[in-house]
Amino acid sequence: MKLLVTGGAGFIGSAVVRRAIAQGHEVVNLDALTYAACLDNVASVAGHPAYAFEHADIRDRAALDRVFSTHCPDAVMHLAAESHVDRSIDGPGTFIDTNVMGTFHLLEATRAYWTAAGKSDAFRFHHISTDEVFGSLGPEGQFTEQSPYDPRSPYSASKAGSDHLVRAWHETYGMPVVLTNCSNNYGPYHFPEKLIPVVILNALAGKPLPIYGDGSNVRDWLYVEDHAEALLLVITRGAVGRSYNIGGENERTNLQLVQTLCAILDRKRPLPKGTYADLIQFVTDRPGHDARYAIDPARIRNELGWRPSVTVEEGLEKTVDWYLANETWWRALQDRQGVGQRLGVTA
Ligand SMILES: NC(=O)c1ccc[n+]([C@@H]2O[C@H](COP(=O)([O-])OP(=O)(O)OC[C@H]3O[C@@H](n4cnc5c(N)ncnc54)[C@H](O)[C@@H]3O)[C@@H](O)[C@H]2O)c1
Repeated sequence: MKLLVTGGAGFIGSAVVRRAIAQGHEVVNLDALTYAACLDNVASVAGHPAYAFEHADIRDRAALDRVFSTHCPDAVMHLAAESHVDRSIDGPGTFIDTNVMGTFHLLEATRAYWTAAGKSDAFRFHHISTDEVFGSLGPEGQFTEQSPYDPRSPYSASKAGSDHLVRAWHETYGMPVVLTNCSNNYGPYHFPEKLIPVVILNALAGKPLPIYGDGSNVRDWLYVEDHAEALLLVITRGAVGRSYNIGGENERTNLQLVQTLCAILDRKRPLPKGTYADLIQFVTDRPGHDARYAIDPARIRNELGWRPSVTVEEGLEKTVDWYLANETWWRALQDRQGVGQRLGVTA
């Protein structure tokens, strides 16, 4: 398949690009190269004959039309987005522009291309979204594909808006779409402003390990390579018009997660005395911080046979190893605007 992947220089998009090439697909990676992008993430495939890069913005309709007519993809995998909740609290406008308006422009460019090419049933538009659109759970229950939308941050509201647009383009214009809503990802190439890389890199630098609130917020962690595998299954075998929830069934509180990372680092890079857990520091909570997310992945498991390949402990171990071995990668990103600062504290 020839895949047009948007956001392929980001964390999850680059995992999809690398895996798609390894599986024998052709890939056109379209990315605006925002602060969150890093072309090193796809350096391993950049010289591959099945790979092409297009520096373009999903808000630029003319650029999108040019990319479609140049490459004639069989499917779109749409991952480009503003993705950091804390940044969405400080500056929601960019999130609406890219996640809502950008998705609208991409849908319209896709529709024009798909229509001109004869409205093939085999074409796919795959929208990659988050479990955060479903809001916040209490101590019990899990999100299913039928869970009502209840977004509570500018980020999740903008993603919810984009999900609604994609469904509407299917119902109204008959575009063959599939959607996925996934839980928190972690793994190699995770941009150093998100919790897991922040904890690893602060620990290595002897800096405090910030935990929002009392650390009791629960997330369902998924190794990024397992997410990429699920996305490639959905784009190739998913049913048109259907959405799939993807989660690792690995619920941990933020405090448990950070303690696990500290224990791994204590083994791999022991301190002269004490433990990395001594660096844990509880800081003011994020406004509107959702208490708990948990995914019921029964549909993708039963219909497509997908299962995560690692437990969270195995995945965190691999992730720590990767950060220890790839210092040049993360050092270069630490100078980017906002990285290393506390963002999103204003209510
Ligand atoms: N990170 C997670 O845990 C998670 C979980 C579920 C779903 N998602 C979704 O997966 C997708 C990818 O997330 P990520 O963590 O890899 O994000 P990321 O921030 O690491 O990467 C986003 C990429 O999109 C590009 N981009 C941003 N605005 C663009 C624009 N206007 N035009 C073209 N490219 C643009 C950036 O340059 C970057 O390369 C997002 O849609 C996100 O909502 C993320």
